Amino acid sequence: MTDDAHAGGSAGEPTGPHERRRERAAERLEAVGAAGLVAFPSRNLQYLTGFAEEPGERHFFLVIPASSATEPEPALLAPALYETQVREATTVGEVRTWNDGDDPVAATRELLADRGLDAGRLLVDDTMWARFTQDLRAAAPDATWGLASEALADLRVRKDEAELAALREAAAVADGVVDDLRELGADAVGMTEAALADWIAERLAERGGRGVSFETVVAAGENGAKPHHGHGDREIRAGEPVVLDFGTRVDGYPSDQTRTLAFGGEPSEAYAEVHQVVREAQAAGVEAVEPGVPAAAVDRAAREVIEAAGYGDAFVHRTGHGVGLDVHEEPYLVAGNDRPLEPGMVCSVEPGIYLDGRFGCRIEDLVVVTEDGCERLNRTGRGWA
Ligand code: GLY
Ligand code: MN
Repeated sequence: MTDDAHAGGSAGEPTGPHERRRERAAERLEAVGAAGLVAFPSRNLQYLTGFAEEPGERHFFLVIPASSATEPEPALLAPALYETQVREATTVGEVRTWNDGDDPVAATRELLADRGLDAGRLLVDDTMWARFTQDLRAAAPDATWGLASEALADLRVRKDEAELAALREAAAVADGVVDDLRELGADAVGMTEAALADWIAERLAERGGRGVSFETVVAAGENGAKPHHGHGDREIRAGEPVVLDFGTRVDGYPSDQTRTLAFGGEPSEAYAEVHQVVREAQAAGVEAVEPGVPAAAVDRAAREVIEAAGYGDAFVHRTGHGVGLDVHEEPYLVAGNDRPLEPGMVCSVEPGIYLDGRFGCRIEDLVVVTEDGCERLNRTGRGWA
């Protein structure tokens, strides 16, 4: 999504969503007592500029001074080979470039000094590579340092309409592929987990998704007891539970949903009981989501169902996590997180039961917190068939 490419409006007014986000970020920096922020290729940079790029070995920084700075204009310092891309994708007013063979630390020092950011408290991307944080220390030896999430987490946690539209569409694409899997039925028997993961990736692309939003989990039989198994050479057998956790991206935003299906036969009674418990726990978790409710209360609501059924020790992770440009972000639905849920937050609700050496079961939907409850983004059935 390159907002700034759609930016219109009168000069001096913030227009595209990314420009508005940069303004709000500058205000947040002021509020948390930071002089400025330095992002590198990351979800934060994408959120603030619309430019999405993998981190690489070249120095690539977005600098945003706090709103009261004498020189408050954000600036990008980019490797010269990115110049056209960056200028096309963003409206950041100043783009400085450096060429291979130049000293990028000197260019960084100059930019920070020009923005009055050679001292004071600077927030850096939480995921910034250590080699770049070291170079920033060298470029601004008198500065002190903190993490960008201090200013940005609160902005990113509530999704705007454009973000919600992308998340809804990404969820619909993934739901469609669950329906495709149900149709595949007995034809999945004998496929390896890896072959089915490839098949899922192809269907996601056919339905309009872009790539996979994380390594697809196809966890057959006993592999399902490892919540983040991924996929391997194990062949899928008739009637065994297969944990299927996958997603794709639409306009940069991911889906993340899980169904546990059985192909070509009925699962055991022991599994059927577990599936029913997880389904009820998931429904209880979704039911608990509303504004003002502490995140931990959603975890408790789902966990109580599983504990009451005697499987408490087999639910080995939190109930959910926020979803935005990052697949895992705040708010975390976990014991001890008293943060109240707010309209616009999007999170997963994904209880599971994992029985070592036997099988696993997880059911996961994304929900968006609304003014009076929540809306499920995933609508496909939650049964195993
Ligand atoms: N899939 C569960 C978690 O990572 O929270
Ligand atoms: Mn998830």
